[in-house]
Amino acid sequence: MKEVYIETYGCQMNVADTEVIFSILEKEGYHRCEDIDRADIIMANTCSIRDNAEQRILGRIEQFVLQRKSRPVIIGILGCMAERMKEQLLSGGKVDIVAGPDAYRRLPQLLEAAADGHPQIDVILSREETYADISPLRLDKNGVSAYISIMRGCNNVCSYCVVPYTRGVERSRDCSSIVREACECVQKGYREVTLLGQNVDSYHFGDVDFAGLLEMVARISPQLRLRFSTSNPQDISDSVLKVMASYPNICHHIHLPVQSGSDRILEKMRRRYSRAWYLERVARIREYMPDCAISTDVIAGFCSETEEDHQLTLSLFEEVRFDAAFMFYYSERPGTLAAKKYPDDVPIEVKTRRLNEIIALQNRLSLESNRADLGKVFEVLVEGPSKKGGQLCGRAGNNKMCVWVDETHKAGDYVNVKVVDCSQATLLCELI
Ligand code: SAH
Ligand code: SF4
Ligand code: F3S
Repeated sequence: MKEVYIETYGCQMNVADTEVIFSILEKEGYHRCEDIDRADIIMANTCSIRDNAEQRILGRIEQFVLQRKSRPVIIGILGCMAERMKEQLLSGGKVDIVAGPDAYRRLPQLLEAAADGHPQIDVILSREETYADISPLRLDKNGVSAYISIMRGCNNVCSYCVVPYTRGVERSRDCSSIVREACECVQKGYREVTLLGQNVDSYHFGDVDFAGLLEMVARISPQLRLRFSTSNPQDISDSVLKVMASYPNICHHIHLPVQSGSDRILEKMRRRYSRAWYLERVARIREYMPDCAISTDVIAGFCSETEEDHQLTLSLFEEVRFDAAFMFYYSERPGTLAAKKYPDDVPIEVKTRRLNEIIALQNRLSLESNRADLGKVFEVLVEGPSKKGGQLCGRAGNNKMCVWVDETHKAGDYVNVKVVDCSQATLLCELI
């Protein structure tokens, strides 16, 4: 009864957490199983960020239950939805284990008790837990790129956002354990690490801030590429930009979620910056690194958003000319400040129309951004074969996906390629 299958939903943090979970379970004699039809324990590491994310997982639980027709199976819900919905998930008798993001060390005990037929719940949030001492069991297929979680939780309480409730207060992980984990990655052959946090710029451990941490990790090896996510416009500092500009192995890409281009909406969202501040930060980034790619997140149709507010978002996109964006329409999350204070009053048709307008604009901007790279030479880290035979794929420092014909290189190599053509999503290149 020790074969464990886990499906992971949501953000990169959850991917990193699933790797921690497998590490904890393997120590207790459990094994990772990639085939749901053979697993004794089926779990989902879940996301609550929008309602449709939760609906999808609720649907998945029904399919997990069907597995019980052929054998006894323990079903577990982990992560953000476990934390948000708590006991609700146990009612109905489908789920045996509900474990929040800070309860993973106790999973072996929970599994044992659940195997004896007693449903288990642990949704206690911690002020200290960072899983600092646990070496994650890496799950990526190519062995090239790894996630390293540098902090947990969030103290920002943006009014629309469920994360502070599902992940608890912000805490930074001991910088020496981060450096140790990055060194382990290098030893195992990894060539790229992505440092993860909800607001990496507020990282602080002793007197090490995020700029200091970046520098510590960048110095480990010039062969190890460094990325990070997510930067918050209110906190991203010039010292971080300086460090980025001075280490060639730190990729020139910043994910800087703007959420809205209207100051009135930003204030209601409790984002603590203005449009002008955001544009100033973008200008600074480009001053330090003219070639730095900038991507963003945006929410269409937040409470009380007018056509004028929406136009301000579109004009901000035009002004910044983002290289990429993740675009959503507002989904009210129970318990958040916005849910308590503001009616969700933009009709769904209007939300969808505005979102589609943003997507259409960004599609054009992404294509234009890619066209501007035609003729440029990039150093690309090979991730592996692309979907098309005979071709390899990998990312340039600016995070754009490159594909090129190549019979000689393999995952983990650095190669120089020249951009000869592009689509909105990909740079088509030649090996040089
Ligand atoms: N910590 C990051 C965001 C993490 S959540 C930051 O502050 O930028 C990822 C993205 O999901 C957010 O940037 C936001 O665009 C989106 N999102 C969060 N809550 C949402 C909601 N209630 N409805 C729609 N989108 C939401
Ligand atoms: Fe959510 Fe805001 Fe924290 Fe990001 S910074 S996780 S949007 S509360
Ligand atoms: Fe991530 Fe979703 Fe939780 S975005 S932090 S898994 S709510």
